[in-house]
Amino acid sequence: MKFLGSKTIETDRLILKAQTMVEQKRLWEILMLPDVNRYFLTVPPKFREKLGDWDKQKIFYEDDMKHANDDNIFRWSIFLKDTGECIGRLSCHEAHDEDEELSDPNIRGVGWIIDPKFQGKGYGTEAAKAMIDFMFLECEIDEIITGAAISNPASWKIMERLGFKRQENTKLVQYTFLDELTEDYSYVMTRERYLSLNSTNRS
Ligand SMILES: CC(C)(COP(=O)(O)OP(=O)(O)OC[C@H]1O[C@@H](n2cnc3c(N)ncnc32)[C@H](O)[C@@H]1OP(=O)(O)O)[C@@H](O)C(=O)NCCC(=O)NCCS
Repeated sequence: MKFLGSKTIETDRLILKAQTMVEQKRLWEILMLPDVNRYFLTVPPKFREKLGDWDKQKIFYEDDMKHANDDNIFRWSIFLKDTGECIGRLSCHEAHDEDEELSDPNIRGVGWIIDPKFQGKGYGTEAAKAMIDFMFLECEIDEIITGAAISNPASWKIMERLGFKRQENTKLVQYTFLDELTEDYSYVMTRERYLSLNSTNRS
C-alpha cells in the first residue's frame, strides 16, 4: 500500500481533513452522547470513567495530535463545506487495532461517527465513500474487514450501500459503554471487489 496519510478530501458537501486539536473538544462532546458512544469499541470498559473526563482526554488528544499528519495515520475530521462546522470523524485504521491476529497494514478496519444533529442526511455515507475510495484507489490497500452491531442499521447500511460483503457468521463484541456483549454483523471488502463494483458503476 501507499502510505499517503490523512490527505484532505473534498466531496459535494463535506471536507475531510487531518485532525487538529482545535476540534477535539467538540468531537469528544459528540462521542460522550450515549446515542453515539454505545457503539464505541476502541477501548475496554474499564476506561469508561477516564473517557468521560475531558481534562484526562485532553492530554491524550494533545499527544495523539502530534501524529495526526504522519503518513501512516488515516483519520479525518469531517467538516461541512457550507458552514465550516465539524460534524464528526472517521478513520481507516489497521485491522490489527480490532483483531490482534491480523498484522498486515494492507488490511484495514473502518470507524465513523456523525453528530446526531446531522445524522440521517447522507453525510455518513458521503464521508465513508470518499474515504474508502481514497484507501482503495490511491493508497491501494488490499482489504477492509469491519463490523457493526445488528442493532445499528445506520452503520451497517453504509457498508451494504458501498457493497461490502456480509459474512455468514455474526460475532459477539464487547463495546466500551455497554455491559452486555452485542451481536455484530461482519463485513469484508477486498480491493478486487471494490474495483469491480466501481467499474460497473461507471459503465
Ligand atoms: C453510523 C453513522 C455514522 C451514520 O451516519 P449518518 O450521517 O446518519 O448516515 P447516513 O445519513 O448516510 O445514513 C446511512 C444509512 O443508514 C440509514 N439510517 C440512518 N439513520 C438510521 C436509523 N436511525 N435507523 C435506521 N437506518 C438509519 C440511512 O437511511 C442510510 O441507509 P440507506 O443508504 O439505505 O438510505 C451515525 O449514525 C453515527 O454516528 N452513529 C453513532 C456512532 C456509530 O454507531 N458509529 C459506527 C460504529 S460501527
